Amino acid sequence: MRQAVLNLEESRIREVANAGIGRDDVLAFWFGESDEVTPDFIRQAAVESLQRGETFYSHNLGLPELRQAVSRYMTALHSPVEAARIAITSGGVNALMVAVQALVDAGDEVVAVTPVWPNLTAQPAIMGARVRTVPLETAGGKWSLNLPELLGAITPATRVLIVNAPNNPTGWTLTRAEQLALLEHCRQTGTWILADEVYERLYYADDTINGCAPSFLDIANADDRLVVVHSFSKSFLMTGWRLGWLVVPPDMTHHVGKLIEFNTSCASVFIQRAGLVALERTAEVTPRVVAHLKACRDTLIPLLAGVPGVQVEVPRGGMYAFFRLQGFDDSLATAKRLVIEAGLGLAPGAAFAPEARGWLRWCFASHDPKRLVGGVERLQSWLAGTASAAAKNGV
Ligand SMILES: Cc1ncc(COP(=O)(O)O)c(C=O)c1O
Repeated sequence: MRQAVLNLEESRIREVANAGIGRDDVLAFWFGESDEVTPDFIRQAAVESLQRGETFYSHNLGLPELRQAVSRYMTALHSPVEAARIAITSGGVNALMVAVQALVDAGDEVVAVTPVWPNLTAQPAIMGARVRTVPLETAGGKWSLNLPELLGAITPATRVLIVNAPNNPTGWTLTRAEQLALLEHCRQTGTWILADEVYERLYYADDTINGCAPSFLDIANADDRLVVVHSFSKSFLMTGWRLGWLVVPPDMTHHVGKLIEFNTSCASVFIQRAGLVALERTAEVTPRVVAHLKACRDTLIPLLAGVPGVQVEVPRGGMYAFFRLQGFDDSLATAKRLVIEAGLGLAPGAAFAPEARGWLRWCFASHDPKRLVGGVERLQSWLAGTASAAAKNGV
């Protein structure tokens, strides 16, 4: 087997979840998905498609009407994005993999901003790339970009810059000024920007543009070396459906179609039909999802911030609280203990970058915000228990 594959690390989030196997009372906030089911009218569209007998392959790039709908949707949110630049994929993660297959050769240098969802650094590593990371800086509970450091790391030898904003897990988001500087710099060095913008609509700060976080699509030209990754998972509550898309320069689309042929051939047609309805009726889903997530965030963060020893900032985007627990620097061990001893399921920061080793990620996408309150109560009583055990043992 290839060394690059042997070297892949297993998901540390799964490792924590496995520690909870056999316990059915765990309040789980470890995975990045809402516990709310996909809206009925979206599910209905898939059922009707199947009943019509749509059980065949589609074009590699997706149904023409879905590509048109994505084009209208992206154009309404950003600048004009023609359907000829859209490729429908089997989820955001497949979109990312196809993009990396298209851009990265073995031995290429890739620069990634971290902490980040581990797939973004694992995928170029699978292709044999050398992944250099540029960590965000942290002060208090807040993460921010050292722009000069990132610009300095991107040289003509850098094939691709990978950046995810709004960011999973930190909630950090690129500003427009940072995007402009990065785009200009990457034009000079000939570096591709692979922008993971799957959380663009889950953005709660004041500088939204059409309800979105700042996007590279607002400022780039169609033929810039820019690939943007999107997903139906987060804004439409469709994680299990595996549907996403890529926005690429026009002369790249055909080649992406070839790669889709060799990966999945196409996204399932009945799933694409559901995606089409989701886009057409986005006004009935996404604003409600975003308002609910904001309410979840505003329930969880003040409660967490009130727990002694917790350091946390209000995230601008995404669906995660990323926090530090004073005195607990090994997040993998802490997350396992929390599952076993407190029935609380969180993701360890170590899953996202070594520099996030002392942090924990809590997905606040909870249909019933009372679950969040219950989770904080469990954390609090666990901390009180460990403190009194330590006092008893004279630690
Ligand atoms: C940053 C980021 N990108 C992409 C994805 C992929 O989403 P999906 O494959 O469900 O479309 C996720 C999922 O958690 C994510 O957090």
